[in-house]
Amino acid sequence: MTAAVEHTEEHRGAFSSRKVFILAAIGSAVGLGNIWRFPYVAYENGGGAFMIPYLVALLTAGLPFLLLDYGLGHRYRGSAPLAFRRAAPASEGLGWWQVGICFVIAVYYAAVIAWAARYAFFSLDKAWGDDPEAFLFGSYLQAGDPGIGLDFVSGVTVPLVLVWVAVLAIMALGVQKGIGASSVVFIPVLFVAFIALVGVSLTLDGAAVGLDALFTPDWGALTETSVWIAAFGQIFFSLSVGFGIMITYASYVGRRSDMTGSGLVVGFANSGFELLAGIGVFAALGFMATAAGTGVDEVATDGLGLAFIAFPAIINEAPFGALIGVLFFGSLVIAGVTSLVSVIEVVISAVRDKFEMTRVGASMAVGIPAAVISITLLGTTTGVFVLDIVDHFINRFGILVVAVASMLAMSWVFKKTGLLREHLNRDGSIHLGRWWQWLVGIVAPAALTFILVNEFIDNIREPYEDYPTWMLNTLGWGLAVAVLVLGFVAARLPWRDNTFLGDPEIKSRQDERSN
Ligand code: ALA
Repeated sequence: MTAAVEHTEEHRGAFSSRKVFILAAIGSAVGLGNIWRFPYVAYENGGGAFMIPYLVALLTAGLPFLLLDYGLGHRYRGSAPLAFRRAAPASEGLGWWQVGICFVIAVYYAAVIAWAARYAFFSLDKAWGDDPEAFLFGSYLQAGDPGIGLDFVSGVTVPLVLVWVAVLAIMALGVQKGIGASSVVFIPVLFVAFIALVGVSLTLDGAAVGLDALFTPDWGALTETSVWIAAFGQIFFSLSVGFGIMITYASYVGRRSDMTGSGLVVGFANSGFELLAGIGVFAALGFMATAAGTGVDEVATDGLGLAFIAFPAIINEAPFGALIGVLFFGSLVIAGVTSLVSVIEVVISAVRDKFEMTRVGASMAVGIPAAVISITLLGTTTGVFVLDIVDHFINRFGILVVAVASMLAMSWVFKKTGLLREHLNRDGSIHLGRWWQWLVGIVAPAALTFILVNEFIDNIREPYEDYPTWMLNTLGWGLAVAVLVLGFVAARLPWRDNTFLGDPEIKSRQDERSN
């Protein structure tokens, strides 16, 4: 049995140091959510006053949950399904549920990176012309009415194929040589590029107007439930908690490591980047509003509208427009790739653990089908609708639901949080008291359940964006339920005979004693 533990550990791969793990975890956390989601969420929900619910959400739910993920991965030393299985056999399905969610997210996340890569080149000659919105949906995406049309759009397909080739190469290289080494290069480049972007944005006429709009506090907002919901929702998405990512990454960290200190570094680096993104984006929006002679409220937006419509308009007007374009879209590509790598690793790692496949074999077994589905659905005229619906539903009724389920399961059903607290405290520089168990067992799941119930009622009352019902029922609700069901089916498949399914920590202590 000892041989099996060692065999698994040795063959699973590991980060070469805690520093590399921290960079990879920051790479996962800092993604599209930071750049195109946070600035507008903050602006819409109280501006400067939003910092209060945001910090409360970070400290009472986001960081505590991040540490639960770290504890599970680090103690049980496995991908999400293996870690849950070793913690409590009946909880393995939670891990596969996360694996299914990550597969779905990877399929569409890659498309946004492909668009951003193409737009980095478009910004050199402002190929979108005077009407970026008409260009995006017309000439570029060739999107008609919502529905399924599988006509390939070469401007999307070609960069999408390249994104998948690059990502699969990183995955095939393994934990340290692929994920670790790419993070060590990409994360510093991302920070430098983004700081340069913020620097250029701040020199634009009207930048101060944008920052005023973003930071002027609306204290009244603090009494609104929707503002608190927005803060908790942003923190969970942005920190990449509940995806199984942090469980997987933590399983690649040396046994005697300071995981609580690492969590704090990752959490605050992620929030720092969000704040920086807010400043950069709103300085640029202030310029756009001033140039157009309108208020910031007329131009402020998020998501696709911010990246592929507002920014092209800014690039059209701004001095150094091409530079702003390359820095902005380049940052989106790097932030996106390091997050996509972490999302797809959840699936690869699980397949490797369960079926004991080689790194290259598992990378191809997972990556090729993901790439084919991604190119077929997102590289075509249907792409933008698929992306919009799947993203909306899987983030809410996938990630948030599995997050609540895993916190409640570990806290109350299998009662593992005491053990995990002890484990994290053994080498952790920040001591977790019993309060951590209360945050993970009560505060965070209660906040998430509240958000979910609200979201559920909203989505039933008003179907999302008036899409045809059959599309919402299949790509939205249907897919969210399918990953749950398939997750618990996958948990019933047998592990290989020599997979060690006990607690590796206890095993290693026994081994030390007998040696
Ligand atoms: N945390 C990643 C993001 O913010 C998923 O996009």
